[in-house]
Amino acid sequence: MSEATRDDSEEADPAHGDEFPVPELSERAEACAARLREAGEFLLCSHIDADGLTSAAVATAAFERAGFDFETAFFKQLDADAVASIAATDYDVVCFTDFGSGQLDVIAPHEAAGEFVPVIADHHQPADAETEFHLNPLLEGLDGASELSGAGASYLLARALGDATDTDNRDLAALAVVGAVGDMQDGDGGLSGANEGLVADAVAAGALEEVTDLALYGRQTRPLPKLLEYASDARIPGISNDQAGAVEFLSDLDVPMKDADGEWRRWVDLDADERRTVASALIRRAVSSGVPSERVDSLVATTYVLADEEPGTELRDVSEFSTLLNATARYERADVGLAVCLGDRGEALDRARTLLRNHRRNLSEGLQWVTNEGVEREEHIQWFDAGTRIRETIVGIVAGMAVGADGVSARKPIVAFADKGDDETKVSARGSGFLVRQGLDLSAVMREASRAVGGDGGGHDVAAGATIPADERETFIATVDELVGEQTSGE
Ligand code: C5P
Ligand code: C5P
Ligand code: C5P
Ligand code: ZN
Repeated sequence: MSEATRDDSEEADPAHGDEFPVPELSERAEACAARLREAGEFLLCSHIDADGLTSAAVATAAFERAGFDFETAFFKQLDADAVASIAATDYDVVCFTDFGSGQLDVIAPHEAAGEFVPVIADHHQPADAETEFHLNPLLEGLDGASELSGAGASYLLARALGDATDTDNRDLAALAVVGAVGDMQDGDGGLSGANEGLVADAVAAGALEEVTDLALYGRQTRPLPKLLEYASDARIPGISNDQAGAVEFLSDLDVPMKDADGEWRRWVDLDADERRTVASALIRRAVSSGVPSERVDSLVATTYVLADEEPGTELRDVSEFSTLLNATARYERADVGLAVCLGDRGEALDRARTLLRNHRRNLSEGLQWVTNEGVEREEHIQWFDAGTRIRETIVGIVAGMAVGADGVSARKPIVAFADKGDDETKVSARGSGFLVRQGLDLSAVMREASRAVGGDGGGHDVAAGATIPADERETFIATVDELVGEQTSGE
């Protein structure tokens, strides 16, 4: 590098630079932003998970700042009925966030009929159709499963709309990070690829801190022993899923588990020395009990903290925040989650916390049910049918959490079924980075196998879903098994 270039780069202040955070997508973002400006009035539609909610929140904040006149609607799935109901409204322009790409073929006929113009900010595998205003990382060779989420795409749209405001909408980047983590796009090194541009914006805006920390879920809110006991991903013998073991492990360390008032301490209550003591002891225990080195390495990772939120709350840690959001929108209370994202720390937050307790109980009971019942094994996949035991909107989360539990292989994709009512069955499929490198693309599998039985589906290579007629389950399983076999056979 020459002296001149180095000087140039040193002068560029990331907080006020002109650089678009994901340059590959700047033209698409500009085009979408221009179309929304031209419309001025439109409908915003988003998905009901943490990423969909943060997408809607980022978009809502940017649209309000831009002075747009818009209404917001949430959908579980953007199926033919949902798109028809959208087309039936008076809106000429519809902005879709965190979905739309996968349903382009369903949307296209409505667009062609002049019913509405779609403006899409999404990261799902696009269906076989095209449209003019389409912001999706996959269209520019970026990975939609790991590099940019729906909230990230929405953030780029917000940035393209942001010239007129003080912050340029950079303050919204932290919400986009919550969305990306909610879609499990982070690895041990934190977020990567296009997402790094968002992290940089959020940090520069002062809204986000990047911290290398113990990578266990619940650092802000869980009592210390529960933090360790519930860390099922880590699978440390004698600690994970072992209440007495976790307490015993901690009592052997010089770190009090309770404070002066007799309340359980949480990870956030520990000082730096105490954290080091616990983390090192945990690593030593993992190593001495034969935990594979890559899992030991994963005990410490890049984590994200929302700088403006109060320590010790669900809102402080992006991962806990995303769970709080899932607890609202997946239970038909997207309005609550959206209000929390937009800054309501009163009634909406109280309501969200109540919903969170219910969501946690459902996740834990669901996981218990799956591990008790066990999974069925086919040649290339494993599956379970929860019927009405697990709500169809969370069966995918439970499936993901079940991988690696007793009796559930981490080497085969897991396919979960749950009743949807009206003789329809919801399907959720989860794979792994390892399987994707072998050729697995669950998005293609779900789309093809569901369409073959009169359903529909899609998603990402590593995680996808579908809806199928209830009486087609057996045929569907056989097709999925065959397709996964073809993909991963190395041809
Ligand atoms: O609809 P959406 O794209 O937001 O959902 C993505 C889903 O994929 C999430 O439920 C997320 O947990 C899952 N996922 C996963 N493993 C990954 C990436 C995403 O299970 N590596
Ligand atoms: O609910 P959500 O999909 O955001 O959860 C993300 C991950 O956090 C889960 O896959 C799980 O590993 C962890 N989690 C947990 N305990 C909870 C909720 C989530 O360990 N109560
Ligand atoms: O619902 P679930 O969490 O299993 O969804 C996993 C992924 O599959 C999500 O990205 C979701 O948007 C996608 N999906 C889809 N079509 C469906 C069901 C799920 O594209 N019918
Ligand atoms: Zn998403």
